[in-house]
Amino acid sequence: MLTPQVVITHLISPPAEPMLREAGFAVVARHDETPPPRPEVLRMIAGASAVLTVLSVKVDDEFLAAAGPGLRIVANYAVGFDNIDVAACRRRGVRASNTPGVLTEATADIAWSLILSAARRVIEGDRLVRTGQWQGWRPTELLGLELSGATLGIIGAGRIGCATARRSSGFNMRVVYSHPRDVPELDGPLAARRVELDELLQTSDIVSLHVPYRPENRHMLDARRLALLRDGALLINTARGSLIDEAALVRELSTGRIRAGLDVYEFEPRLSPGLTELPNVVLLPHLGSATHATRRAMARLAAENIIAVLSGREPLTPIA
Ligand code: GLV
Ligand code: GLV
Repeated sequence: MLTPQVVITHLISPPAEPMLREAGFAVVARHDETPPPRPEVLRMIAGASAVLTVLSVKVDDEFLAAAGPGLRIVANYAVGFDNIDVAACRRRGVRASNTPGVLTEATADIAWSLILSAARRVIEGDRLVRTGQWQGWRPTELLGLELSGATLGIIGAGRIGCATARRSSGFNMRVVYSHPRDVPELDGPLAARRVELDELLQTSDIVSLHVPYRPENRHMLDARRLALLRDGALLINTARGSLIDEAALVRELSTGRIRAGLDVYEFEPRLSPGLTELPNVVLLPHLGSATHATRRAMARLAAENIIAVLSGREPLTPIA
């Protein structure tokens, strides 16, 4: 029998490559992390038994056909898998996996980096000092939002939403959340309350998005819902850009009524016109899972999923 070939489409953290080699597979790894042009991806995966790829690569019928009938698993190097056509994978009997759990704490940390930066105007302050415009302490310079006593609204109380909520306990905050069902982990220790989305938007000082992207939540925060946010509220997004109507968000931010902290964008890496000119938004380049330890854990989990499937076992964290 031919040695199964595993293709890794981007340079990722060790130890995926050595793990897959030690498991006896022929590994073809592209040691470059810039997004490859689509034709290069399709060429690279031809004949592969497994592909380890990232969230900017669309895994659709075209991709699956290019890999060919020997493809058995696509391992996504991300927890979100809106880049993967799960139905198309099922139709072809190709398994797919993601990396849940291992990036929960790192992503919640990035949500809090954005909360603190937006609330206390950290980036604006840095810019003021750095550009030599600071003239010394002023009674009313860069006043921000006090976290103590504020209400944190968590949209989507999955692993990352809960981890983000949990971090609020050191800040003396109230927590509300919207989720399809009660979440005892929040109700008990945090005395949190489950509310409808519109009520959450109307009553929270900080709103943080933690729902996975699905076509039915595209523009979940549209112009109408953005208008429900309180004056001075912060909107934080570390989930997926398309959950927010970004053009409507730019309009709402332009009024100066709210502030935002974004790690993800509707058309990333492109930003909606006007976004970078606004002082009241903190912009990060999709860093949710970007710690050394988390990226290593993601690499390990992705490799374990591939090893399991190519050895005739179930994937550890299947999505198809
Ligand atoms: C990153 O956005 C992920 O889904 O892992
Ligand atoms: C991700 O791990 C989530 O389910 O929140």
